[in-house]
Amino acid sequence: MTLKCEWTQYLGPGSSPGGHQLTDWLTGVQPLDMCALRLINGSFGLGTRFLAPSSVRLVRKTLYGSQPSADTGTNVTSCGQQLEVHHSRWPHCLHFTYTWLRDHCRCPQCYDHKTYQRKYEISNIPLGIRPVAVKATEKELKVKWPDGHESGYEYKFLWQNTFEGQQTSYRMPQLPWTTATLPEAHQTTASFKNLTYGFILDKYCTVPLGDLCDPEKGGVKRLIYAIVKHGFAFISEVPADIESTRTAIEKVCNIKNTFFGDMWSMKGTNYEHFDSAYSTAYIGAHTDSTYFTQACRIQVFHCLQPATEGGENLLVDGFSIAKQFRDKHPKGYAFLSSEAIPSEYIEDGQHQVSLDTIFKHNPVTRNIKQFRYNIYDRAPLSSLPMEKTQDFYTHFSNLSKIINNPKNEYWLKLNPGTVLLTDNWRLMHGRANFTGARFMCGCYLDNDDFCSKARVLEVQLE
Ligand SMILES: [Fe+2]
Ligand SMILES: [Zn+2]
Repeated sequence: MTLKCEWTQYLGPGSSPGGHQLTDWLTGVQPLDMCALRLINGSFGLGTRFLAPSSVRLVRKTLYGSQPSADTGTNVTSCGQQLEVHHSRWPHCLHFTYTWLRDHCRCPQCYDHKTYQRKYEISNIPLGIRPVAVKATEKELKVKWPDGHESGYEYKFLWQNTFEGQQTSYRMPQLPWTTATLPEAHQTTASFKNLTYGFILDKYCTVPLGDLCDPEKGGVKRLIYAIVKHGFAFISEVPADIESTRTAIEKVCNIKNTFFGDMWSMKGTNYEHFDSAYSTAYIGAHTDSTYFTQACRIQVFHCLQPATEGGENLLVDGFSIAKQFRDKHPKGYAFLSSEAIPSEYIEDGQHQVSLDTIFKHNPVTRNIKQFRYNIYDRAPLSSLPMEKTQDFYTHFSNLSKIINNPKNEYWLKLNPGTVLLTDNWRLMHGRANFTGARFMCGCYLDNDDFCSKARVLEVQLE
C-alpha cells in the first residue's frame, strides 16, 4: 500500500514522520474528530481518521478513495473502530472491526497451523483494541498492535472468512424438481411399471464404480455434485451383493452405524426390525430417521433382486414441495417451520425420540436446509397446546396433499448393479407394494461425514 499524503505534523505512537510522505506504515491509530478532518480534507481518506485534527494540516489530499493503488491493488481506510479495505480482486470493499482482526491473527503464536486450532484466550484481547499501524502489501494486510504483536492476513483469507465476503461466494446450486423439470434423461410420461434400468441412467447422475475407485476420474466429486444438485445420484456397475455395495459406498465416505447396523438388508418379509419398510406394503413418500436428533443425510438403496411384481421406488423432491407449499400456504409454511413436532421409533431395546420442525433453515442465509416428513414415525402430538392442534392438522394435511400430487412423484425401477443415493435431508422416498422375494440392501451416511467429504473435494456447500 502506498499512502500518498503529506502531513505537516504527525502525532501518534511509534512514529513521527512529520512533513514526510507516508508510503508505508499507517501509524498512530487514535480516536479522532472526523468532522474537523472533513473540513480540512473534504473526504474520509486514508489516514484522516488516524490523526488528531488539532495537530494535523493536510498538505495534499489523500489519493485514497475507491480506486485501488496501482502497486498493490489495495486501499485501506480507517473508519472509527473499523478498517475499510478495497482490494482490486474483490467485487466490493469489506469492513473489519479491529477486534475481529485481532481475533483472526494467524501468526504461530495465535494459531497452530498443524492442528488448525486457535491458541489464545479470547478474554485477553481488549475489546477496544486498535492497531498502531496498518500496511497493505501485495500479498497481505499487515497490522501492528499496541503490544508489538504483528498480524498478517492474506486477502483471500479475509474475503473467504467474512460474512460479507461469503454473501457473494459461489454455492453449488440445489435445483428443486418436479417430474416435469427433472434432467432430460429422467423425464417420462410412461407408467412407472414400464420404466427400465437403462432409462434411469444419464451421464449427469450416474457414476460407474470404476470412476469412484480411480481418483484421476473424479467420480466421488461428480457423485456428490449430482446429489447436491438434484438430491440423488446413482453408482452403476456395482456387483449385486451386500459387501460390494459396502465397498462402493465406502469410496464416498464412512457408513453410519445405527441400530439397523452399518449395512441393512431386507429380503421379502424378513422382520429383522419391526418397521414398515420390512413389509411388502406400499409406503408413501417420507424422509428417514426423523426420530434421530440429526437425521441420516444420505440414504443408499441397492436392489439385489427385484420383486416379481411391483416394488418400484418413489422419489419426491422435498425442496420443491417446500417451495410449492410456501407459495400456496405461506402461513402453513411459517407454522411448520417454527412448531416442533415429535417423532419416535420404538422396538425392543430402542426408544428413539426427536422433537423438531418439518422445515429447517440455515440460521444465517435462512435458505431451506432440511425437510423432515414421515407420517409413520410421528409420535403422539404432545408438543403443541390443544388450541394449536387444529392449525397443525390443517397445515399438515395441506402439505400432504402437495406431496401426494402425481406431478411431484418420480417413480423408478431399481435393478441389481445400480445403487441409488438420495439426500435424505431433501428427498423423500417411498415404494410400491410388491410380491416376490424382493431383496434390498443399503445404508446411511452421516451429514457431517458427507459434508466433510464434499468440502475436501471443494464442492461448495451452503
Ligand atoms: Fe424409508
Ligand atoms: Zn498473532
